[in-house]
Amino acid sequence: MPTGIMLCHCFAVFWEALSLKIVFVFLVTFLIFADYIRQRRPRGFPPGPRPLPFVGNLFTIDIKKPHLSSEKFIDIYGKVFSVQLGILRCVIVNGLQLVKEALIHQSENFIDRPIFPIIYDHSKTFGLIMSNGLPWKQQRRFALSTLKSFGLGKRSLEEQIQEESRFLTGAIEDEKGQPFDFHYQINNAVSNIICSITFGNRFDYHDSQFQKLLRLLDEMGNTQAGFWGQVYNSFPALMKRLPGPHQTVFKNWDQLKSFVRKIIEKHQEDWNPLETRDFIDAYLNEMAKENVSSSFHMENLILSTLDLFIAGTETTSATLRWAMLYMAVYPEIQGKVQAEIDSVIGQSRAPTMADRDILPYTNAVIHEIQRMGNILPFSAPRVAVNDTRIAGFHLPKGTVLLPNLTSVLFDKDEWDTPRKFNPNHFLKDGRFMKREAFIPFSIGKRSCLGELLARMELFLFFTTLMQKFTFQAPNGLILSLDFKIGNALSPKPYKICAISR
Ligand code: HEM
Ligand SMILES: *[C@@H]1O[C@H](CO)[C@@H](O)[C@H](O)[C@H]1NC(C)=O
Ligand SMILES: *[C@@H]1O[C@H](CO)[C@@H](O)[C@H](O)[C@H]1NC(C)=O
Ligand SMILES: *[C@@H]1O[C@H](CO)[C@@H](O)[C@H](O)[C@H]1NC(C)=O
Repeated sequence: MPTGIMLCHCFAVFWEALSLKIVFVFLVTFLIFADYIRQRRPRGFPPGPRPLPFVGNLFTIDIKKPHLSSEKFIDIYGKVFSVQLGILRCVIVNGLQLVKEALIHQSENFIDRPIFPIIYDHSKTFGLIMSNGLPWKQQRRFALSTLKSFGLGKRSLEEQIQEESRFLTGAIEDEKGQPFDFHYQINNAVSNIICSITFGNRFDYHDSQFQKLLRLLDEMGNTQAGFWGQVYNSFPALMKRLPGPHQTVFKNWDQLKSFVRKIIEKHQEDWNPLETRDFIDAYLNEMAKENVSSSFHMENLILSTLDLFIAGTETTSATLRWAMLYMAVYPEIQGKVQAEIDSVIGQSRAPTMADRDILPYTNAVIHEIQRMGNILPFSAPRVAVNDTRIAGFHLPKGTVLLPNLTSVLFDKDEWDTPRKFNPNHFLKDGRFMKREAFIPFSIGKRSCLGELLARMELFLFFTTLMQKFTFQAPNGLILSLDFKIGNALSPKPYKICAISR
């Protein structure tokens, strides 16, 4: 018997070792095969670079300059091609005609957003930016009508931006013409507009708690859009359990949510349905209408509020940072803007929205800043609701669509000097001229919800700053137009001098 046991035991050990090896080899083979099946392109799908096992084209695309890195792909594969980003099968669409085909002619089919695990795992599909279907329709319609009807509360949006412009000029005057990086003043000014709309009040530029929150928002976007975000999106189940920068994203989210939740609780305490002070009050009114099938609940209130910050702060702030940079790099253009403002508005009153039509050159410069700034090179991703075709290719339901806005904003056939800063792109016989290929806010039913607000902010902040200051490079320095990728494509941090006029 004992030998029997011995034999049995030996055999078991041997078997265990062998089976471990076999199981391992089998497992790896299975995974590679499963991954191959997963990544295999469906029939008629747009061509693209060959994806590697597991990581797809994660390393084919240069994450530091994704909007430039694939010129060769267009040459090889044409205007519609595919890339595999983690678990997402993406199709990139180039050129005005095809972008219009997808976002306008097939508007209903590309109305949804795909699910990104790094976002889904902290916010599900609540809010405005990542929601789909009926909840998205309801949240978007509500946000748009609240923005419009509110102009807001006691004062119009225009007045609020004018007031914030005064605070911003004050803060910049405090720098006394010395070199400074106005990233956080600009960020603060811009997000104060969203604060007034949503919370009913602004924050002082020296409020350290609020500054910290703005920094959190920034950091979070950088990580989410960066390498770790991509890795998380590819291996969510694994990454969830591993330490790393992606864990900071979740911590930051909790802080942001609890900041907003506290402000909402304060609103609930002194809520008066007869007096709507801001977005949160309006939302509480909506929640009070008893309707089990409605999407107006606490989670959506928190996320819709945060989404207005996320979509409305860094975008506008990055555009204004590009604006001052371009003005310092092209002093003769800055001079012409100032001359136009001086002759139409003068120095004694604040710019108003009514001035936009009589400042064609300034308006053209702002448009050209947005075109060159190209702050969201791939807009925001969409996903095919049903099987469909684009340019003869077959796109199955679930395919992610990335409209390449760069290919439209810099299209050789649309612009005289696509790579050169040239306000004449938007001028004809001294009058402002709209351009169809100007689509920094994207197009179609899911285009930027804050476009009108953003354009108001850009015009009023920019004109006020040009009226009060001349922006120039610090002595002996040459400013660079290099960009970095975060929440948006923004200038590399720079220092600049704002000389009072
Ligand atoms: C220069 C400033 C801005 C630019 C260039 C910009 C651009 C964009 C773009 C390209 C999209 C994606 C649209 C699409 O998928 O087709 C978007 C979405 C969005 N934007 Fe803006 N945006 C700016 C400012 C703002 C502001 C100030 C707000 C605040 C109200 C805002 C709120 C939103 C929201 C909520 C969405 C998501 C819309 C949805 O999914 O239905 N944006 N924006
Ligand atoms: C987007 O368009 C630009 C300009 O045409 C081009 O250089 C770039 O390679 C394109 N990127 C992708 C990913 O298609
Ligand atoms: C998608 O297909 C379903 C089922 O055929 C249909 O009911 C729906 O209307 C389609 N949606 C779009 C946006 O075409
Ligand atoms: C409740 O919400 C649903 C979905 O939004 C809507 O169709 C319905 O009319 C609402 N009912 C009431 C009583 O407001």
